[in-house]
Amino acid sequence: MLRTLSLLLSCVAVVVTANVVILLADDLGMEIELYGQSACKTPHLMSLANRGVVYDRAWTAVSSCSPSRASILTGLPPHQNGMYGLHQGYHNFQSFDNVRSLSKLLNDADIRTGIIGKKHVGPESVYPFDCEQTEENNSIMQVGRNITLMKEMIGTFLAVNDSRPFLLYVGFHDPHRCGHTHPEFGQFCEKFGNGKPGNGIIPDWTPVEYQSDQVHVPYFVQDTPIARDDLASQYTTISRLDQGVGLIMQELENAGFLNETLVLFSSDNGAPYPSGRTNVYEPGLQIPLIVSSPRHQHLWNTRSNDLATLLDITPTVLDWFNISYPTYKMFHNQNTVNLTGKSLLIDHSDKNATDPHHKYTYASHSLHEITMYYPMRSVRNSRFKLIQNLGYRMPFPIDQDFFISPVFQDILNRTINGDELPWYKTLEQYYYRPQWELFDLKIDFTEKNNMAGKQHYSRIFSAMKKKLYSWQEMTEDPWICSPGGVLQDAGKYALNHKCCSMYNEL
Ligand SMILES: *[C@@H]1O[C@H](CO)[C@@H](O)[C@H](O)[C@H]1NC(C)=O
Ligand SMILES: *[C@@H]1O[C@H](CO)[C@@H](O)[C@H](O)[C@H]1NC(C)=O
Ligand SMILES: *[C@@H]1O[C@H](CO)[C@@H](O)[C@H](O)[C@H]1NC(C)=O
Ligand SMILES: *[C@@H]1O[C@H](CO)[C@@H](O)[C@H](O)[C@H]1NC(C)=O
Ligand SMILES: *[C@@H]1O[C@H](CO)[C@@H](O)[C@H](O)[C@H]1NC(C)=O
Ligand SMILES: *[C@@H]1O[C@H](CO)[C@@H](O)[C@H](O)[C@H]1NC(C)=O
Ligand SMILES: *[C@@H]1O[C@H](CO)[C@@H](O)[C@H](O)[C@H]1NC(C)=O
Ligand SMILES: *[C@@H]1O[C@H](CO)[C@@H](O)[C@H](O)[C@H]1NC(C)=O
Repeated sequence: MLRTLSLLLSCVAVVVTANVVILLADDLGMEIELYGQSACKTPHLMSLANRGVVYDRAWTAVSSCSPSRASILTGLPPHQNGMYGLHQGYHNFQSFDNVRSLSKLLNDADIRTGIIGKKHVGPESVYPFDCEQTEENNSIMQVGRNITLMKEMIGTFLAVNDSRPFLLYVGFHDPHRCGHTHPEFGQFCEKFGNGKPGNGIIPDWTPVEYQSDQVHVPYFVQDTPIARDDLASQYTTISRLDQGVGLIMQELENAGFLNETLVLFSSDNGAPYPSGRTNVYEPGLQIPLIVSSPRHQHLWNTRSNDLATLLDITPTVLDWFNISYPTYKMFHNQNTVNLTGKSLLIDHSDKNATDPHHKYTYASHSLHEITMYYPMRSVRNSRFKLIQNLGYRMPFPIDQDFFISPVFQDILNRTINGDELPWYKTLEQYYYRPQWELFDLKIDFTEKNNMAGKQHYSRIFSAMKKKLYSWQEMTEDPWICSPGGVLQDAGKYALNHKCCSMYNEL
């Protein structure tokens, strides 16, 4: 009775507000029901899809946690916002102090901001939220995987008597791996809170369990019993994420906000499998994306083939709140910072909309962990993809939690022992990559056949190189002259930046 009364009151206070909720999964790839992979059920994401547009072609700007989150929250790729790698512990990456992040711009515009769950970006002065319940002062297991607790925290945020519009950013930690930190709960923490002895209980979660013969093994994972078990564990954890999304939508509805809240659902990067997270191959970059806008109900339950990038999130939220991006420079010797993403709120059925979507999307990876220096840049259009591996003479590095995962250990063991490895690559190919990789995705979506240097593709090769270079210029990429030259942008080059050749034959 009391609860009903307070709900009524909160409804009265909020009818005219227009809010944004960002729901971000951790390492969720495309291998889910939402994208036609029916082995891994996602009923709540399917329901959300009924209230919005599902993007079939969306990518992150970088396949690494902190760099991707910083890109989402700034609209700038990692080489421009400064978050070159992971934020926590000795990795210690931070965005530049000058960056105008989304939460800061909204705070300045008197919009209430909240973050619940995984934050993983800093410094605090660049990413301030009015209300923070994150791994910085909670257990990440609780605030990122316990969907009952997350629901309660979100309920508390929504119940605050504040008539201002809000941005609520919810950072799930599911379905991230946890075999390296909490092996007692399984490889993906799929046992955490499942109600079995010693695992505790998450009251709102009904675990969906999978057997290894029920999974779909994607082309980039070896089809072995170990890999199948790993996928089955991941699916169970995805069920917790999926049900968490359902709970949050219910909270929004209960609080009377559903009708005027833009809900964006995505993932920071692809799944933690070979060629996935930390790679710029498609399994690393491609991510789910749902845009649920109550202002665009005629587009509900549709799918879009437009190219989208997570660099579009900041322009989209600014567009929703009708806030323009400020004019500023990151460093005195640079040009004005411009966003290269676009608002996703453009009505795709409106043929008059000027240039409503991207013809190209881009990615920029420099590190993941501090030891994992392996810079890569890539550009993609609807058919072709070009990758430059700047440090291509080094072996591709492997991160701590993927290294220790059964999937990677299985690849190592089978390779060392000379056993059969039913995988689409060899370890040697995976470690040693050419400087340029050009893929014709229309005929080669698994990115197996490098067309760089092939006569028939020479025109597209140079056109894509040019595109990539001009994006690097537009985003002030410090790596723009690598690996063949040295960027000079100070002293007599302050106004006229120059690449000076090192004569290293690159
Ligand atoms: C975390 O910090 C926020 C303020 O930034 C505070 O509201 C919240 O209660 C803190 N949570 C815990 C568990 O200390
Ligand atoms: C909400 O805040 C307004 C303005 O501060 C106040 O008038 C009102 O009584 C508050 N409502 C509740 C339910 O606390
Ligand atoms: C999850 O959070 C709820 C609510 O705070 C709590 O009752 C429950 O014990 C937590 N579950 C786990 C596994 O920690
Ligand atoms: C939701 O908003 C639309 C207009 O934006 C309005 O027509 C409709 O009645 C509203 N529904 C509810 C339940 O408030
Ligand atoms: C958006 O902001 C601009 C300038 O601040 C203003 O002129 C315009 O009316 C606003 N549009 C809406 C729909 O609020
Ligand atoms: C598109 O432009 C044409 C010509 O300028 C105009 O007549 C039409 O109303 C516009 N359509 C929309 C949906 O704005
Ligand atoms: C890999 O081989 C080591 C050493 O023989 C063994 O301890 C480990 O269990 C194997 N791991 C997998 C995933 O096969
Ligand atoms: C950003 O746009 C402004 C205005 O078009 C332009 O002068 C500036 O050079 C651009 N910045 C970069 C880095 O290209």
